[in-house]
Amino acid sequence: MRTIGVLTSGGDAPGMNAAIRAVVRWADAHHVRTFGIQRGYTGILDRRVELLTSRSVANLIQRAGTYLKTSRCDEFLDPEQRRRAAQILRQWDIEGLVVVGGDGSLTGAKLLAEESGIAVIGVPGTIDNDMGGTEVTIGFDTAVNTALDAIDKIRDTADSHDRCFVVEVMGRRSGQLATTVGLAGGAETILVPEKATDFEAVVDSIDTSITRGKTNSIIVVAEGYGGGTGHDLTEQLNARGYHARACILGHIQRGGMPTAYDRNLGSIMGAAAAAHLTAGETGRMVSLQSGRIGLVDLDEAINGKRMDAVNMLELARTLAT
Ligand code: F6P
Repeated sequence: MRTIGVLTSGGDAPGMNAAIRAVVRWADAHHVRTFGIQRGYTGILDRRVELLTSRSVANLIQRAGTYLKTSRCDEFLDPEQRRRAAQILRQWDIEGLVVVGGDGSLTGAKLLAEESGIAVIGVPGTIDNDMGGTEVTIGFDTAVNTALDAIDKIRDTADSHDRCFVVEVMGRRSGQLATTVGLAGGAETILVPEKATDFEAVVDSIDTSITRGKTNSIIVVAEGYGGGTGHDLTEQLNARGYHARACILGHIQRGGMPTAYDRNLGSIMGAAAAAHLTAGETGRMVSLQSGRIGLVDLDEAINGKRMDAVNMLELARTLAT
């Protein structure tokens, strides 16, 4: 394979730049040309492509966001547009593509590979950490630390005012972020999409905390926990007399310098993707399992992560009492 492409797609994630840099520099070192495609799949259809060299990706490893920019490309749901994309890629002699993104992006990659024969290797890049077949995705560690920093600060003011806070973190379909920051931040209650929310149990947990002498509590909710927004939950609590406050962390969680962990994960996974792609692999995603970098089928990756949410939630609750 003499020419490959790289794109980032879906929600950005800190560490994507390290992955782009690694793809380009690995390829350069092995005499393979890399085209960078801007704004995800939209950039293929709009022909926004540039040849990248090792110098193009200089000074990138520490930067947040994605140098190539990203998008959620609804057009790519249409098989006709995917066929057009494959034609455009061939016009640039792009034989294989590294796609850095989450489940929606890698579903597009899988379909493109199956329908057109363009070789595709996925790299898991999402702060949600919800991909199957890999223990961790690029961006998760940074997002956890960003959210945790906020929760620690909220704890300070919650303690001063003897208040209950509802902190909403990202995750429409996944409670990985909520559970991880909830446990690390000593949250009294964590609500996730994977487990039905029982409002009375939330009230009980606050009451139990108060009975045990705690004067403040933090409830971490994933945005897709199923009971509305963090503001809705706060209103429900206030209707029961708790004087709670809400803090929605939102897109702050997707920004910021990647941690050392995410820079290294991006570097290792990006280089592995370029190596596997040029060696003839396709339809697979780079993964990390039991400390080893490997490959899993895209089918397994996009099927999502089975979450040991219940155990983590129980543990968080036990340790917060
Ligand atoms: O990329 C994942 C994610 O950050 C989710 O946690 C969140 O639900 C979603 O993206 C938000 O997407 P957007 O930025 O398109 O509103």
